[in-house]
Parts: sequence; C-alpha cells; structure tokens
Amino acid sequence: MKIFLDTANIEQIKKGVEWGIVDGVTTNPTLIAKEGKPFEETIKEICQIVQGPVSAEVISLDWEGMVKEARKLAKIDEHVVVKIPMTPDGIKAVKILSSEGIKTNVTLVFSANQALFAAKAGATYVSPFVGRLDDIANDGVKLLEEILNIYANYGFETEIIAASIRHPMHVLEAALIGVDIATVPFNVLEKMFVHSLTDSGIKKFLEDWEKYKMGR
Ligand code: E4P
Repeated sequence: MKIFLDTANIEQIKKGVEWGIVDGVTTNPTLIAKEGKPFEETIKEICQIVQGPVSAEVISLDWEGMVKEARKLAKIDEHVVVKIPMTPDGIKAVKILSSEGIKTNVTLVFSANQALFAAKAGATYVSPFVGRLDDIANDGVKLLEEILNIYANYGFETEIIAASIRHPMHVLEAALIGVDIATVPFNVLEKMFVHSLTDSGIKKFLEDWEKYKMGR
C-alpha cells in the first residue's frame, strides 16, 4: 500500500519523507489556506521534497476554467496531479486532461457511481472520502469495497486513494481490502507507529541492559 500525506505543511512532509514511508502528498484548498503561503510555490516545494505524486486542487467550477488551471498547475512540476471535484464539468475536464497526459485525482467522491464515472473519464486517481461518510453515519470502508469491486470487474486502472482518514483503523481497514493508497494526516501517521507494548518493551530492555552493565 502506498501512503500519501494529507497536508501542505512542509515540516510534516519533510519528516514523513525522512522516515521513508511517504510516497506522495495530497493537498486541498483548506490545507493550503491553513499554511498561509503562496499556492504555486508551496506545491513546487512539496514536489521537490517528496519526488512522488502531489495533488493540487483547481478552484474553477466550469470545465474550461478547470482545464486552464490544470494545464498551469501541471507545468509547476512533473509530479503534480491535478485534483478535480466530482461534478459533470469535472468529469469532462478529466477526460480532456487525461487525453493530454495530465494526471488527475477526482476528489469529493462519496458514491461508487461517482467513482465509476471518474474511471471512465480516465482519472489517474479517485479519492473516496471515508471519514466524511462515517461522520454522517454512513460506511466509508464499504464504499472502498464497492469501488474496488467495480474497478476489478472492468479492469479500470484508476488508483483508489482512501481519503478523509480520521484514525489508524481507517488505514488498516483500507489495507486489509487492498486499497491502493491511503492519504493520511500527519497526526494519524504518528499514531500508526505507536504500541504500548513496544514502549514498555524498550524500557525493560534498557533497564535490563543497565543492570547487566552494573554487574560486570
Ligand atoms: C484528500 O484528498 C482530501 O482533501 C482530504 O483527505 C479531506 O479530508 P477531511 O475530510 O479531513 O477534510
């Protein structure tokens, strides 16, 4: 499973990349706004650090505007993936962009039929929002299963990014059913390292080592 970091924070991205477990990054307008830095410069810097797919989202809602923004974003760096919202105009834009070889990530996906359209349009990635579905008492992981089945039925090559991840169990459940990618907030990534038995195990080994050294 590939792990993407769901953040525009440079320090967090540097840390994740140094750990060697981050394959890419996803951003959205909210995450960019949180950092308060110029959009295109931020995307460029992230691309240089991660050297893998970096999603940058368009703001336009009409397909002509989306295509124009996408072409500009794609010129920032070869790793840029243009994030396009799941609308009829968005799907039309994805079809055009995929014919031009521009990589796309269809975002704000909440149903399997939406994911079917994203794949038919030739999207590189599709981002079902697991956490936001769970928030409204729907089953985000079930949506991942449905999309996996549909893509397998027809041999679609669009990769599934489990997005809107809230906790390590979301990542685990996505991995168990074979989802291609999880895009994970930094705090969830940190939690995935942790187990109390690891901590107590290290403590005991070091205590025993100290006793051994004292006795020699
Ligand atoms: C990533 O592609 C999405 O923009 C992100 O995962 C949304 O997460 P949120 O529901 O926590 O805002």
